[in-house]
Amino acid sequence: PGMPLADALSRPLRDLRISVTDRCNFRCGYCMPKQVFDQHHEFLPHAELLSFEEITRLARVFVSLGVEKLRITGGEPTLRRGLESLIAMLAVLRTPEGRPLDLTLTTNGSTLVKKAAALKAAGLNRLTVSLDGLDDAVFQRMNDVGFPVASVLDGIRAAQAAGLGPIKVNMVVQRGVNDSQILPMAQHFRGSGVVLRFIEYMDVGATNGWRMDQVLPSADVQRRIAQAFPLVPLSPSAPGETAERWAYADGGGEVGFISSVTQAFCGECNRARLSTEGRLYTCLFAHRGHDLRALLRGASPSSDEQLADAVAGVWAGRSDRYSQLRGQRQATPDGERRVEMHYIGG
Ligand code: GTP
Ligand code: 5AD
Ligand code: SF4
Ligand code: SF4
Repeated sequence: PGMPLADALSRPLRDLRISVTDRCNFRCGYCMPKQVFDQHHEFLPHAELLSFEEITRLARVFVSLGVEKLRITGGEPTLRRGLESLIAMLAVLRTPEGRPLDLTLTTNGSTLVKKAAALKAAGLNRLTVSLDGLDDAVFQRMNDVGFPVASVLDGIRAAQAAGLGPIKVNMVVQRGVNDSQILPMAQHFRGSGVVLRFIEYMDVGATNGWRMDQVLPSADVQRRIAQAFPLVPLSPSAPGETAERWAYADGGGEVGFISSVTQAFCGECNRARLSTEGRLYTCLFAHRGHDLRALLRGASPSSDEQLADAVAGVWAGRSDRYSQLRGQRQATPDGERRVEMHYIGG
């Protein structure tokens, strides 16, 4: 190996987020609003998706370039048939120094009662579950398919029982929609071993009609929690981390704040994204990806070395820092083209 790979802003490549399906059984308004993703929406046909072999081959190439963490996302990744086989294929990868990878997955929790044990057995290390409230009326309005809170909570328990801990729970906060749930969520997960993280509603994609006035800044969320349960700051556990970490002063565990709108964290962003059909995106807000699938499937398929050169070239030229540049924007401009989150994988 030569010089360590760095992008144009000296950021290493450490984290690969892999979207395995563009489908989801939820219709969260901030991600796949029903009006857009209705029965007429065409999802990708199976032949367009990367196969498990293709994903594993690309993951191995990324690992050779410095990636140490793999996160499986979607859409809802557990809807991809046979996902456990992919997990098993990725679980045996090792860094050039011979270390195992951090292998994790972000899910809406709806299938965990059925699947948690098999995911663990296949080699998944840990798990993040999205849950936007504890009140059924609020949560069902958000997932927009009538999915009950209790089933997600059962799924979280199943994941804990399977040994997939420490589990993280992600709550996207939308002012006026679910901010009533901040304290109940904090109260519920305090002392449970689950790390709850509050996420500022972001202007990803171009279909969710994002407006700044729907963002509740993390500082406000934190103030509300600290009034009920005093917090003390924790130091970051890894460079380039998305969440700022705090601990309950009374030993009730940890909470996190992901503040991509009010406190962008592009400075140390070490994340690459592989879309469902094999495009490489170097930013969550990119409008264009680099077609790696073409290199895998073309008339003259690339060797692993050629793939590594291609990825390294893209990374070396990367200067993305969208969230830092977003500035004082108050809404997503009409007609702006941008990749959708369920396709690129959060
Ligand atoms: P951990 O490894 O557990 O810390 O997970 P993570 O925070 O890297 O990933 P997760 O899937 O839990 O994402 C949490 C939230 O942060 C989601 O809303 C993501 O869309 C958002 N997020 C993750 N990476 C980035 C990023 O690079 N930029 C921005 N703006 N948001 C991100
Ligand atoms: N803003 C913030 N977070 C979002 N997520 C999906 N869409 C958005 C958005 N517009 C979250 C999901 C999941 C994670 C991968 O990204 O709830 O927890
Ligand atoms: Fe599905 Fe997650 Fe998007 Fe909600 S946020 S629609 S659960 S992919
Ligand atoms: Fe990384 Fe882009 Fe997110 Fe900034 S906006 S942290 S560069 S993915």
